Amino acid sequence: MAKIERVGVVGCGLMGSGIAQVCAQAGFRTMVREVSPDRLEGGLRSISKRLERLEDKEKINAAEREAALARIDGTTELADLAECDMVIEAVVEDLEVKNALWRELEAICSPEAIFASNTSSLTITEMAATTGGRGRLIGLHFFNPVPVMQLVEVVGTIETNHSVLESATDFVRRLGKEPIACRDASGFVVNRLLVPYMMDAIRMLEQGVASAEDIDKGMQLGAGHPMGPLALCDFVGNDTLARIGDIMYEEYRERRYAAPPLLKRMVSLGRLGRKSGRGFYEYPEDGG
Ligand code: 3HC
Repeated sequence: MAKIERVGVVGCGLMGSGIAQVCAQAGFRTMVREVSPDRLEGGLRSISKRLERLEDKEKINAAEREAALARIDGTTELADLAECDMVIEAVVEDLEVKNALWRELEAICSPEAIFASNTSSLTITEMAATTGGRGRLIGLHFFNPVPVMQLVEVVGTIETNHSVLESATDFVRRLGKEPIACRDASGFVVNRLLVPYMMDAIRMLEQGVASAEDIDKGMQLGAGHPMGPLALCDFVGNDTLARIGDIMYEEYRERRYAAPPLLKRMVSLGRLGRKSGRGFYEYPEDGG
């Protein structure tokens, strides 16, 4: 089993910054790459703020916060990931973009490095098929907010080396997260169930069955969910959800994955959820 010490994270947005944070907190040397200095700075600032909040809440002490920050380096150059034993990508959900990235990383990293995609809905096989090192490409699917959510889906293809999956599962445990093993099917376990549920909640709103508030209250108080499905749509991002739904619909051709018209209209109007300040609800302090 390969020993993982240095981790590269490509993308320092919502997911990438969370992944980099948990890697650094777990003691891994972490190199984060963003495409521009502005985006890199924004991502690193969000990590720093979250660590400060953890210190304020006395979940970590000042020395732990400083040590975690000291373990993270930022770069805009992919070549700086050359020494990484594990590279996790959390870039845009676009197969062409991800495949181009893997091809570049193949030329940079050691042949033993493990490549992991945080894709929500694309298949790992479609990525592995375009790279030379099919045996080392896996899915490591984290959940938002990454520092809070306990689960990571560990996904292998029919060509993934067993030792790579073992190392990745051990890595997930070292992050303090719980792994589950999944076959490479679009949406894996969680999104396969969660996406149709969220789409159904939007259809229910479209049909006027109940108000957004009452649909959400129903699932919070009647089924014990931490947030209702429409609040969750806003939390994930309505554009992200529509994109995931499109990819899953393309894969399975089942209507339950397809974005309902209301979701598409909301995306067209820029009502993306928390990040834009307005979605099914209003968030004046978040993005507006
Ligand atoms: N980043 C880091 N920590 C956060 C956070 C964030 N964005 N949001 C909340 N937290 C922390 C808080 O600091 C707090 O920590 P503490 O207990 O140590 O004080 C804890 O989470 C609880 O937060 P709050 O008390 O403010 O609020 P809630 O109790 O309502 O919890 C929540 C917030 C954790 C987001 C909870 O509502 C929840 O679990 N919601 C469901 C989230 C979910 O389903 N995520 C999966 C989305 S699907 C996905 O990611 C897959 C992708 O492919 C689409």
